[in-house]
Amino acid sequence: CGIVGYTGFQDAYDIVINGLRRLEYRGYDSAGIVLENETNSFSVEKTKGKVDDLVNIASNLKGTAKIGMGHTRWATHGVPSDRNSHPHVSNNGKVAIVHNGIIENYDTIKTMLTEKGFSFKSETDTEVLVNLIQYFTDLNSETDFPTAVRYALNEVYGAYAITVMHEDYPGILVVARLGSPLAIGIGEKEYFIASDASPFVEFTKEAIYLEEGHMATISLEGGVDIRTITDNSKIIPEIQELKLSLEQIEKGGYEHFMLKEIFEQPKSIHDTMRGRLIVNEGVIKMAGIWDHIEKFKNANRIIIIACGTSWHAGLIGEYLIEEFARIPVEVEYASEFRYRNPIITDKDVVIAISQSGETADTMAALKLAKEKGAFIYGICNVVDSSIARITDAGSYTHAGPEIGVASTKAFTAQLTILSLIALKLGKHNGNLGNAEFMSLISELDAIPKKIEEVLEATHELTQHIAKDFIQATNFLYLGRGYNYPAALEGALKLKEISYIHAEGYPAAEMKHGPIALIDENMPIVIIAPKKGHYDKIVSNVQEIKARKGKVVAVVNKGDKQVSEMADYVIEIPETSECFSPIVASVPLQLLAYYIAVYRGANVDQPRNLAKSVTVE
Ligand code: G6P
Repeated sequence: CGIVGYTGFQDAYDIVINGLRRLEYRGYDSAGIVLENETNSFSVEKTKGKVDDLVNIASNLKGTAKIGMGHTRWATHGVPSDRNSHPHVSNNGKVAIVHNGIIENYDTIKTMLTEKGFSFKSETDTEVLVNLIQYFTDLNSETDFPTAVRYALNEVYGAYAITVMHEDYPGILVVARLGSPLAIGIGEKEYFIASDASPFVEFTKEAIYLEEGHMATISLEGGVDIRTITDNSKIIPEIQELKLSLEQIEKGGYEHFMLKEIFEQPKSIHDTMRGRLIVNEGVIKMAGIWDHIEKFKNANRIIIIACGTSWHAGLIGEYLIEEFARIPVEVEYASEFRYRNPIITDKDVVIAISQSGETADTMAALKLAKEKGAFIYGICNVVDSSIARITDAGSYTHAGPEIGVASTKAFTAQLTILSLIALKLGKHNGNLGNAEFMSLISELDAIPKKIEEVLEATHELTQHIAKDFIQATNFLYLGRGYNYPAALEGALKLKEISYIHAEGYPAAEMKHGPIALIDENMPIVIIAPKKGHYDKIVSNVQEIKARKGKVVAVVNKGDKQVSEMADYVIEIPETSECFSPIVASVPLQLLAYYIAVYRGANVDQPRNLAKSVTVE
């Protein structure tokens, strides 16, 4: 979910609505706003649907207030509906809240409050929290509003970022964070609150990232007063300078963020390598790795934890690190890892991969690994994100803001970082000889150029192919070796944005099950570069053609055998086998994108998904 809040001299409606649009990638099944007008009373509007739907019912609030807050939701408790949308208001109508996260013990608190006479209109955990705050405010006259919020938060378990307002305390916003991010923008005579800095970058470059377990009372008169939630100790915040520019987060002429981000890949991969890969000196410079090289060198094993697309990058990371550094690697879904009592020791290095750096499951898995004494390393795209801050060390991917919900440039940047790490470790521990190292780094250096070629050569072609598959109901994606995870990622892209069922499989495993599905209606995307079990793939394609499957083959330029059998051929330039998933992923992203666009789907905001999942 996304949260925006404002107090200052501008129209709060405009700031909140524009901010919510920037945060819509965090969830978009409902949206709402509350403003406090000059007579200190609240106006609340909320609805199921997008920010545009909210504007349809709330535009009369324009120009009515200088303080307010809003929310864009990704449902956890209760279906998306007007009733379950935020803001939620307490029984006496005086306390309003927007919340990102989950209150786990809401049921117990709800029972307690119901016994005290409170009633509930929604199925949400948030409505329970706002009434708990009212309960504490009403308890005795000494408990002021910020104190009541603090008391309430001390009663709840779970994860949250919240912003709360009280009609009897005009001009005050109370915010708190535990497990979900929250940034406070500091302007001249104005303050902004948001789940990330994008809603306020155009107004101020100064921000405070609220730390875990802290809350703040914000007003024009009192400034920002930060306290710990548990014992109310005063905290002196660190004010940070934002580097994000507005242009970086806007569409720049492309129809969708996803297409813009696909096309940015030559640049984003270049940015990932900038200052790190220095080909003419024959070195890879990565301070995060180098400063802790002994930890890596002496590691019993490396465990990679991640979710979604980042998990696919992790699988390729396993191939890379095992091949070049010869350190055993395991890759786990963060959500599984944390709940199965894993064996971890201080000899393990745990690497978390996360575009947002906020994914709740990844964060929790990482905390567990840290508790057990492992050295924890982060590969994040968002600078200063929660994961980046709790890790012992890390490497940013520097792909720039990724707004499209389906990850594209963040994925190829993750693969680039993992390649750099594997080659650096391999060189350092002597598994990679100088000649091989040199040839691999110059090959890696050439990847941005090759991706430019792929974009140029396949942009139209993928549109033609996409048109033939608009009616498809299933897809199979196959690859071997390094390109098996690339097949998983190709399938995930398609299902995320086009809602066509798609499965990725190791090509050789096809005969142990999925082959039963193959007939003339089954499209099969097969990744078959020259290097990497090509002959075996040829046999797999023969098996598919014998059953009349429709083959879309991703092959190297000049390919003959697979191309002759395939129904559609996508040519990509040749590269080392270990880097081929970076290049092969690009036409698969375009194919998924155009199939989704032709089916009329909203590719930047696919149904039921969110870019940053800050709940378990
Ligand atoms: C969500 C997104 C996916 C993403 C996953 C992990 O489910 O929809 O696209 O891969 O989270 O996100 P992270 O930010 O940790 O890489």
